[in-house]
Order: sequence, then C-alpha cells, then structure tokens
Amino acid sequence: MERVKVLVHGVLGKMGQEVLSAVSRDPKLEAVAGVDVKASKKEILLPDGASSIPLSRDLESALRGCHPDVMVDFTNAEAAMPAVRTAVKHGVALVIGTTGLSDADLNEIESLCKKKKVGAVVAPNFAIAAVVMMHLAKVAASFFDYAEIIEMHHEQKLDAPSGTALATARGMVQARGSNFVHVYAKKESIAGSRGGDLGGVALHSVRMPGLLAHQEVILGAPGQTLRIRLDQINREAFMPGVTLAIKKAVELKEAVFGLDRLLGL
Ligand SMILES: NC(=O)c1ccc[n+]([C@@H]2O[C@H](COP(=O)([O-])OP(=O)(O)OC[C@H]3O[C@@H](n4cnc5c(N)ncnc54)[C@H](O)[C@@H]3O)[C@@H](O)[C@H]2O)c1
Repeated sequence: MERVKVLVHGVLGKMGQEVLSAVSRDPKLEAVAGVDVKASKKEILLPDGASSIPLSRDLESALRGCHPDVMVDFTNAEAAMPAVRTAVKHGVALVIGTTGLSDADLNEIESLCKKKKVGAVVAPNFAIAAVVMMHLAKVAASFFDYAEIIEMHHEQKLDAPSGTALATARGMVQARGSNFVHVYAKKESIAGSRGGDLGGVALHSVRMPGLLAHQEVILGAPGQTLRIRLDQINREAFMPGVTLAIKKAVELKEAVFGLDRLLGL
C-alpha cells in the first residue's frame, strides 16, 4: 500500500519538528514537504540525517509541488485558518493540533470539509493518556460528590489552570449532570488556598521547573478516594495520537473534533 504523504505546516516549531520525526519513523507515512514562515533554506533535513525534503514559506506552491495527502498544522490560530482554507481548496486532508481556534473557526473547518468532502481531525490534545484520563474522570464523576484537580506544569506556562484541567472539570460536571460539593474553608488565612472553583471542582495549579505536564484528579466519598494520574514527560507523548489522526484523516470525508472520537471513547 502507498504511504500517506504528509506536509508539515509549522515544521520549524517545537511540535512541527516532533511531527517530522514521528512521520519519518512511521513506515506507513512519508514526509513530503515542510512549510514555515521562518524558513530560510529550501530544504529541511530528515531525522535520518541522510535525506531532505523541500522547505518553503509558501503553502500554496508547496501543495502544488508535493501533492501531499494530509497537511498537519501546529502553528498558531492566526496562521492555521488561512492554511486550512488553502489545503481544503487543494483537496488535502487536515490534522490540526493548533490550539486557540474560536468556535467560528471550528464551524468554518466543519463546513469547508463537508462541502469538499475532505477529512480532518482537529484536537486540542493529541496525547492518548490525557484523552483516556479525561474519559476515566468522566466515568468516575457520577460515583463521587467531591472532586479536586491538581495540575502541574513547567514554569513557562502562561495560563492557569491548564486547558486540560478546565476540560476535565467541565466534562466531569457535565457527565454527572450536577455540580460537585465544593468545600470552602471557614477561615482562609491565605487567599486562594482552596484553589479555583469550576462546578464545585477545586482546581489547583503548580508551576515550576522540572515539570512538563501532569495532572491528578482526586475524587472523594466517605471513607475512600480515587486518584487518576496523568504524566506527560515530553512532546513525544502527542505523536501516537498525531500519526493515528493522519491515517484516519485520509479515510474521512468530514471533520472530526477530538481524539476521543477516533479512539471510540
Ligand atoms: N493538540 C495538541 O496536542 C498540542 C500539543 C502541543 C502544542 N499544541 C499547540 O500547537 C501549536 C504550536 O506549538 P509549538 O510549541 O510547536 O509552537 P512553536 O512556536 O514552537 O511553533 C510554531 C511554528 O509555527 C510557525 N508559524 C507561525 N506562523 C506561521 C505561518 N503564518 N505560516 C507558517 N508557519 C508559521 C512558526 O514559525 C513556528 O516555527 C500551539 O498552538 C500549541 O498550543 C497542541
């Protein structure tokens, strides 16, 4: 069977580099081009160190020249949408990992793909462990009245709580159909000690070097607690999800949102 040809948009970024390596290692995939606004050379070396593929700043000409089956995008919200429009115009399937897309952006991706019968997988988190953790937290949510989330990230993370913690808490509240019991301290001598509150779930954020992305969901009931723990130690964690999405995207005729759908959760 022919290998799926992949163009990496944002190839010089942290995720783009990781995607290029993962695609190059997968015998069913073939990296055919890289596009990045920062490109200053005409070629990019593949991780084997022996071969290279075309590198360009111009997506349109890269699509014409290399005829990829799939464009993988890890850029930013401003760059992703023009790239999506161009790729769909060329009938190229999409794997979008860029975060920060608005609801209007997601609706546009859905309708563009439907119109052109082009497949797409759009997921804010490609780490299979994170997706399964959120699923397990939703399953557990109905059996406990108390829940707290401690999320731990590197010190350069801008936002708190993390998007994953927010999504986990929202999913848990939705799954049980009511808020958890949030225990407020009668006397909070240091403000914020009981964390944030989303639907009764107390959210706590830890930021320090030595961490990448970790989360513990603690559910409580009389005489018992359940802990669900996620540890992502590097960006490789996202790659099995990305390569799975690439292989699925070429078979799809519409956009799928969230890796959980591909995993059958
Ligand atoms: N879905 C997931 O599982 C997941 C995981 C990690 C990161 N992300 C998201 O992926 C995105 C990229 O993250 P990163 O850490 O690799 O960032 P990064 O800044 O290291 O890389 C982004 C790359 O995109 C390029 N770029 C920017 N504008 C462009 C344009 N107009 N045309 C072409 N290339 C352009 C930049 O030059 C850069 O090389 C972010 O939105 C991040 O939140 C998603």
